[in-house]
Amino acid sequence: MKKEDLQALLNDMSLEEKIGQLIQIPGFLIEGGSVITGPALEMGFDEETYYNAGATLSIFTFERIREIQDQFMARQPHHIPLLFMGDIINGYRSIYPIPLGQGCSFDPALSRELAAMSARESAAEGLHVTFSPMVDLVRDARWGRVMESTGEDTYLNSCFAKAAVEGYQGKDIADAGSVAACVKHFAGYGAPEAGRDYNVVELSDRTLKDDYLPPYKAAVDAGVEMVMTSFNTLNRIPASGNTEYMRTLLRDTWGFHGMLISDWAAINELELQGVADDMAASANMAIHAGVDMDMCTPVYALSLRKLVKEGKVPEALIDESCMRVLELKNRLGLFEDPYHHAHQTKAEQVVLCDEHRALCLKAAEESVVLLKNKRDILPLKKEGQNIAFIGPYADAHRLYGVWSMLGREEDTVSVKEGIEEIGQSNTCTFAKGCRMLDPKFPLTGFHGMEQEEETDDEELLLDAMMKAKRADVVVMLLGEHPAQSGEGGSRGDIRIPKPQRKLLKEISKVNSNIVTVLFHGRPLDIRGVDRRSKAVMAAWFPGIEGGRAIARLLFGESEPSGKLAMSFPYSVGQVPVYYDHFATGRPFNGDITNRFQSRYQDIPNDPMYPFGHGLTYTTFDYVSVELSSDTMTKETPITVSVRIKNIGNRKGTEVVQMYIRDLKGSVVRPVKKLKGFERVTLEQGEEKTVTFRIDHSMLAFTRADMTFDAEPGTFYVYVGGSSAVDKHGEFTLQA
Ligand code: BGC
Repeated sequence: MKKEDLQALLNDMSLEEKIGQLIQIPGFLIEGGSVITGPALEMGFDEETYYNAGATLSIFTFERIREIQDQFMARQPHHIPLLFMGDIINGYRSIYPIPLGQGCSFDPALSRELAAMSARESAAEGLHVTFSPMVDLVRDARWGRVMESTGEDTYLNSCFAKAAVEGYQGKDIADAGSVAACVKHFAGYGAPEAGRDYNVVELSDRTLKDDYLPPYKAAVDAGVEMVMTSFNTLNRIPASGNTEYMRTLLRDTWGFHGMLISDWAAINELELQGVADDMAASANMAIHAGVDMDMCTPVYALSLRKLVKEGKVPEALIDESCMRVLELKNRLGLFEDPYHHAHQTKAEQVVLCDEHRALCLKAAEESVVLLKNKRDILPLKKEGQNIAFIGPYADAHRLYGVWSMLGREEDTVSVKEGIEEIGQSNTCTFAKGCRMLDPKFPLTGFHGMEQEEETDDEELLLDAMMKAKRADVVVMLLGEHPAQSGEGGSRGDIRIPKPQRKLLKEISKVNSNIVTVLFHGRPLDIRGVDRRSKAVMAAWFPGIEGGRAIARLLFGESEPSGKLAMSFPYSVGQVPVYYDHFATGRPFNGDITNRFQSRYQDIPNDPMYPFGHGLTYTTFDYVSVELSSDTMTKETPITVSVRIKNIGNRKGTEVVQMYIRDLKGSVVRPVKKLKGFERVTLEQGEEKTVTFRIDHSMLAFTRADMTFDAEPGTFYVYVGGSSAVDKHGEFTLQA
C-alpha cells in the first residue's frame, strides 16, 4: 500500500478502531477463530476491542493462524490483518543453542544463519514478528534470564544483535521467509538488583551509555522493526513510562522509526511501581512516553478512549502510534497477503529439514565450552574402553531450554542416542543415577514442566555406582533443570541440584576418571564439579542436536572451540563479576598479609573461568603480535597483526581475541575491553596472520563532561585466547 493509501485508511478509521490497533490480545483467549468471551471479558477486553486488535501473541502453526486471520479480518471494519507475534528465541522447531550458548561460539555470522533459519520456519507457519533478539547485557548469574542474552560483553552483544536482526529480517521483511525482529528489553533489564527478576535497575548514566545501551543501538542501526520495553525501573523511572529513553534517545537521537511494544503487562505495572495513580494514569504515561502497543492487557483498551475524550491524550498521539502499527503491517506486505506467503506445504518442506538440523548441529558444537581437560582425558578413545555415561542428562531429551515453545522431545537427540551413533567399539553403559531435581523444588509457570516421575533413588544410585566401578572413564551428564533458568528463574544458589551433587560425590568415590558435561542456562558455581572432574564441558542448553554434538565432541569427531561469553564465578559471593571491571586504588597484588586491598577474605577475586576462556584439543602458539605503528591519530588508524600457529597434533579452531586498555582518562577506565575477535581454524602445524584494525571510534567513551569521545594518551593491547591474557604492546593516541 502506498503511504497516501495508508493515511487514507487511518483517516477513515474510528477512534475505537485506531485504539484497537494498539492492543495485542493474548493467544490463549482465542479458540478456533473466535475469542473465548468469558475469560476475555473477565480480563477487561470487550468485543469492540478484541476484534479490532492490532496483534496477537503465541499462536502457532499455519492452519490456526489462517483461521484466526480470516475470522478477525472479516470482523474488523476495514479488514485490517492481525499481526501474529511470538517468542521464537532459539529456533522454531529446529531448535539451536540458547543465546548464551551462541554467544560462546563468538560466531555472529553463524547466528545470522540461525536467525534466518528460524525466520524461514516461523514465516512458513505464518508468524510475522519474533520477540527476539534479547540483547540485555548480563553480569549476574543469579538472574535466570542470562540464558537469553549473548553475555557480559558490550561489543560481543552488539555483534550478535546486528547479526540476529539481519538474519530474521533478511533483505526485506515483505519477502517469504522473513520475519520482523523485536529487540528487547529496553532498557537495562539485564541488571536487576541482586539478580532478582523484575527488580529495580540502578545504573549510572555512564555505565548505561558505554556498556548497556550499545547492543540495543546496534539492533536499531541494523534496521530492527520493533523494540520492546522492559519491566524494570531504570534509575527510579519505570522503563515502560520513560519519555527520555523512548522518545528522546530511541526515536530522536537514534532515529528509530519502528513500533514500540510494552513487555507483558508492563504498562499496568506502572501503577504498582508507584508512579501512576491508576490504570488510566498508567496508560496516559505510557502513550505519552511513546509505547505504541500494549502487550496482552486491556489497559489501553479500557483507558485510551476516555483519555482522548477528556483531552488528556491528543488524538494525534493515537494516530501516530496507530500509523506505526499500520506501517509495520504494510512493510510486511500484509495488506496484499495477510498470510505473508505462509503455506502448509512450505512449512512441511522447511520445518526440521535436513539442512536445518545440520545447522543446529554446527551451532551446538560451536557453543560448547571445554572449561578444563586435565591430562588430555578428552577426546575419549574410540575403542577398547569401558565408558559409563551417568546422570539425569544421559538420556534426557529436553535439551533446548525453557523458552522453546515448540520444542519437542521427540525431535531431540539425547546424549545416549548421539553416543550410540558414533562408530566406536567401546563398552558403553548408561545410568540415570538420580533425579534431576530435589522433589521439593517447585516447578511452576512454564508449559511442559511436570514434576519428575517417582523413582527409587537407592536403586538409581546403586546401578550408577556399579557401572562407574567397572568403567575406565565415567562421563557425568549433569546440570540445571530447564525450569531453573529463564524468566522468573532467579537463584540464590547457582550450583547443580542437590541430588546430582550427591551422585557426583558418590561416583567419585569409586572412579576418579571423571569427565563432566553440564547442561545449564547460566554460569554455575562448579567448585564441587571441578574438584571431582578431570574435564568439564559447559554445554548450555544446546538444542535438538545437542546429544549428537556432545557425542561428537567427546569422541573427537569434532573439536570444541567455544569461549565463555559470560564468566563462571568462583561462587555466588562474587557476582556481579565481569572481566571489564574498573581499576581500583587498591588492587589486590597477591599479598594476603595485607588486609587493606580490594579482595575477599574467603574467596578469590578472579572468577573460576573468565570471559573468553575455552580450551580446544590442540595448542595454539601466539607467535608474534605486531602493531603497525606505536602512534595513531583520529585520521590514521593502526592495525595489530597476530601470527598464530597450531602447534598441537590435530586440527583446531581458536577464537583470537583483541582487548584494549585505556591507561588514563578523565574518568576511570576498565582494565580491559574486547575490541575485536576472529575464529581461526588451523590444521596441525598450520599458521596464519589475523589482523585487527584499531581506530579512534573504538577508543571513545563517556567522558567526565558526558561527551562521547576518545582521549589522547597511552593504550595497551592484549591478544590471546581468553580475557586473562597478558599485554602485548602499546600505542599512543595523539591529539
Ligand atoms: C517477557 C518477554 C516476552 C513476553 C511475551 C514477557 O514475560 O519478558 O521477553 O517477549 O513475555 O511472551
